[in-house]
This record gives sequence, C-alpha cells and structure tokens, in this order.
Amino acid sequence: MRKVGVAILGLGVVGGGTYKMLTEHREFYQKTQGIDIVIENVLERNKEKALALGVQENKIAANIAEICSNPDVDIVIEVMGGVEPAKTFVLSALNAGKSVVTSNKELFCKYSYELEKAAKKNNCGLFFEASCVGGVPVIRALLDNLQGNKVLSMMGIINGTTNYILTKMTDEGASYEEVLKEAQRLGYAEANPTADVEGYDAAYKLSILSSLAFHTKIPFSRIYREGITNITAEDIQYGKQLGYTLKLLAIGKNTDDGIEVRVHPTYIKSGHPLASVKDSYNAVYITGDCVEDVMLYGRGAGAMPTASAIVGDVIYCATHPTFRYSTFKNTEDADPSTKFIDNFKSAYYLRLNAHDKAGVLAKVSSIFSRHNISVAQMIQEDDGAADGRVPLVFITHQTKEKSILKAVEDIKETNEIADVISVIRVVS
Ligand code: HSE
Repeated sequence: MRKVGVAILGLGVVGGGTYKMLTEHREFYQKTQGIDIVIENVLERNKEKALALGVQENKIAANIAEICSNPDVDIVIEVMGGVEPAKTFVLSALNAGKSVVTSNKELFCKYSYELEKAAKKNNCGLFFEASCVGGVPVIRALLDNLQGNKVLSMMGIINGTTNYILTKMTDEGASYEEVLKEAQRLGYAEANPTADVEGYDAAYKLSILSSLAFHTKIPFSRIYREGITNITAEDIQYGKQLGYTLKLLAIGKNTDDGIEVRVHPTYIKSGHPLASVKDSYNAVYITGDCVEDVMLYGRGAGAMPTASAIVGDVIYCATHPTFRYSTFKNTEDADPSTKFIDNFKSAYYLRLNAHDKAGVLAKVSSIFSRHNISVAQMIQEDDGAADGRVPLVFITHQTKEKSILKAVEDIKETNEIADVISVIRVVS
C-alpha cells in the first residue's frame, strides 16, 4: 500500500486533534482510501505536550530544517497560526518539495500569492480548507462543485466567538461585556478577543472565500470591517420586535456594477435560515446563478471539526496529484480590472434618542426625504424617560451607504432632534 508521510507543525488544539484523528483512523484510511498515512515528524516546542499525545520521542523534530530534509515526509501540515514563523516554515517546506496543508487563515489571506508561487515552482500542492469555517467544507464546495456557477452572493456567519456572544445577548438579554466575560471563562473567546470581536478573523476568511467565489483576488484591505463591540442588548431587542435577528455577517456580492465585500453586524429576517444558526455554529449561504441557494452549516472551529478539514485535504492531496491549487486568479494585489463597490446598497436600522415634542418626527422625516431614504418600519416608545427623551427606531428601505451616513450627520447636527445611538445594516 502507498505510504504517505506527514509532519505536523504545532500541536495546539487543532494540531492535537489532527494527530489524534490521523492515528486513530489510520486503518480506516488504509481500507477506504488505499493509502497509509504515517506521521513521520512533529514540530512542537513543548516536548511534554507531544509525549502526552503519544508522539514517539524520535519523531519530535528539533527544527523545520529537519522536517524539510526528511525524505519520508510528503506533506507538511501547518497548524501554528499567525504569520511568522508559520510563513517561513511553509515556504521552507514548499521549497523542499513538500506539499502543504494549512489551517492558517491570516497567512493564506495575506500571502496566498507568494505561497502559491512557491508551490507551483516546486510542483507541490497547497491546500487550505481548514483556514475557513473549520469543519464546514465550503472551500471544496466552491472549488469542486459550485465552480460551474457564477456565484452571485455569499453571506456567512463565519466567526463562532461572535455568534456565541450575539446568541447569548439575543436569548438572554445580557450585555456584550457580560457575555464576553462568560465566553472567556468558558474558553470560547480568547483572553485578547480583538481578532474575533472586531471582525478581523471573519474578514480574513471572507477575503479567501470571496476570492474563490468570484475567481479573482479580493485582498483583505478591500473588505469593509466593523465588529460587534458597540452592539447593545437594546438594539437586539428592538430588532427582535421588528422581526429581525442580529448576526455578524460576512457578505460578498458580485453584481453588474462590481464586487462588494463587507463584515459587519447585520439584522436578518428572523425566518431566514442564517437566523437559526446559533451559539458557536457557523454557516455560509451561497447563491449561484444556476444552483440558486445553498447553505453549508457546522462547526467553524474546535479540535476535531478543524482536524476533519485538514485530514480531508491530506487525503485529497495524496489522491489528486494534478489538482493542487486554488482556482482564482491569484494576483499579488487586486487585479486592476476588478471593480469594487464602496457605496453599496442596504436597508438600515437607526435608533435615535429623541426629544419627545411636536415636530421631531417631521424633522427626521424631512432629513430622510432630502436623502431619498424611505422608511419601512418604525417604533416610537414613550418610556417615560426622565430627561424627556424617547427611543425612536427606524428600519429603512434599501438606500445607498453614503446617503444614510449623510442623513445621520444631518440628524446629529440638528440639536433639537435627537442623539443617534445606533446605525446597523439590514438584509431586507
Ligand atoms: N476564532 C475563530 C472563531 C475560530 O471564533 O470562529 C478560528 O477561525
């Protein structure tokens, strides 16, 4: 039986899961895939951790050079995360003729051009299913199944930490700060949660997924990004009253006018399939011109779900010697012919804190009208606020981003009206 030698760089949560999956399923892959996947090396600074997992001492490499020069290693699995030293290690492996399977979204998002160039030069494979949405096989779906479609749009809940936080805020009415602390205590959120809660993690993934979906490089720098740190329990509750659920959505659209790519908190109709994606689960909702709507759902992180994506790539790499790279036009930066839309169309949720007196609503309406914004839904509540102010909540029909921003500026300047508390985009 053909032997496939692998090395694992990093035995953290995902590396540990991958080690376990490959060792426990070794015979299963012999039977089902006709290959014997053997872990030839691991690279892990914490030797005790490696030994505790069952790695034999002589398999623990001292450095990347040892792995690169080991003729028994065919595929290097990079599960270290971060840009360096992962980038140097991956390039060393490719230049030594090893194929690479990586789960590193930041590395692939920022340096896929350089990595792919090295892979092609050395006739090695480069696989990255685990970089986006953990165990959910969205990359393979885009590469190997939906590629006959023009993908018109994709909307994804592609960050589990923020979905967990927003779900708790929605179901329990808790504040962002309370839920974040609980999520950190339970290990769902990192001690430094910035990458997740500010939307960087989702933007890296959207850059990769939209490049594949739209067949051209969509650099991270072109993605509009806004996190969930300013979201309040009040906004979530008002959204609920109006029939919407708040999610951190990654949105990519390919229209006749160009491509738009953005990550931000978004209200979606509570009956939309994405609204039912709760806790730390992820989902991607793709619309193709022929297939229509497809939704992929599952675990976007975690040891074994992410290991599932990695091992899938290892098997694919070992059994598909001629299909080895991404299929988008992987230029260093965006192709000059790609047109991006910044002033995109959306519906909007606006919450104002308004003076409770005659003419306020008329004034707000006149500002909306000046910017050609039409109101679809509204809540005006007399909550008996001691300062004489009341919440005023609007959902608009579709308008342009710049129009809403100008209207918000005008409302802010009109002292007698109101404070603008929140502006949140809505998928209508
Ligand atoms: N931190 C990510 C999340 C998982 O919360 O979804 C890895 O991308």
